Amino acid sequence: MTTIKPDKNSSQNKKAQVQEMFDNISDTYDKTNKHISLGMDSRWKCCLVRHAVSAKPEKILDLATGTADVPVRMAKAGLNNITGLDLSVGMLKNGQERLKEEGLENKISLLQGDSENLPFAANEFDVVTVSYGLRNYENLSKGLKETYRVLKPGGTFIILETSVPQKYLFRKGYSLFTSRFMPLIGRLHSGDKASYNYLSESAAKFPCGEDLKIILEKVGFKNVMIDPQFFGAATIYKCLKLG
Ligand SMILES: C[S@@+](CC[C@H](N)C(=O)[O-])C[C@H]1O[C@@H](n2cnc3c(N)ncnc32)[C@H](O)[C@@H]1O
Repeated sequence: MTTIKPDKNSSQNKKAQVQEMFDNISDTYDKTNKHISLGMDSRWKCCLVRHAVSAKPEKILDLATGTADVPVRMAKAGLNNITGLDLSVGMLKNGQERLKEEGLENKISLLQGDSENLPFAANEFDVVTVSYGLRNYENLSKGLKETYRVLKPGGTFIILETSVPQKYLFRKGYSLFTSRFMPLIGRLHSGDKASYNYLSESAAKFPCGEDLKIILEKVGFKNVMIDPQFFGAATIYKCLKLG
């Protein structure tokens, strides 16, 4: 799998670049994301949250949590004991302000950390979620192995990630949209075209559908379910850690 870095010419590793990039766009990220997905992001996250609720979890971890959008939605859906973890201090700062505004500080705690080296004991969480995070990892396999380790046996891992539509016409439209429209909207909102070029390119090249399923199964996840959203522009994956 090719590693896509925000700045291919920089000698900095991907993790440091990703952290810096999200720190830089953290104040405008939520608004830009809403526009880039044409408002569909909210629907996809609701679907992810429904899967989480149906697992009846007591302890939840949201990886690459950003501004805590997924934890907030889970708490509003009645879930408790949620930890959100992210590399970017800027994204977490915006998330913490949101928790305060929404009065959810007693249900959600935010933590700075690395999904590829989690500060938790094995078998701690009933559900782990990650939305639009995986393609930003430096080492996907390491991140997935860490997720597997911290999930309880019987626990559920739920992923929301961008994907590439399989049908030719949708794929063409999607490619035009991500290569032209995404960087433009990103630049208008954040003044940062390069970051949105990276996000667009990484979305186009990240393994999706059956390819990601194979990667998940290699790590040990079972019963991998693939649920494409909006003709495959995004996909929700749900899988289990069995015994
Ligand atoms: C596109 S944002 C998604 C934020 C949020 N999950 C959402 O759906 O709005 C990706 C996030 O992944 C975080 N991230 C990337 N690599 C990470 C890693 N190794 N560990 C923790 N967070 C990471 C970034 O800092 C960024 O906040």
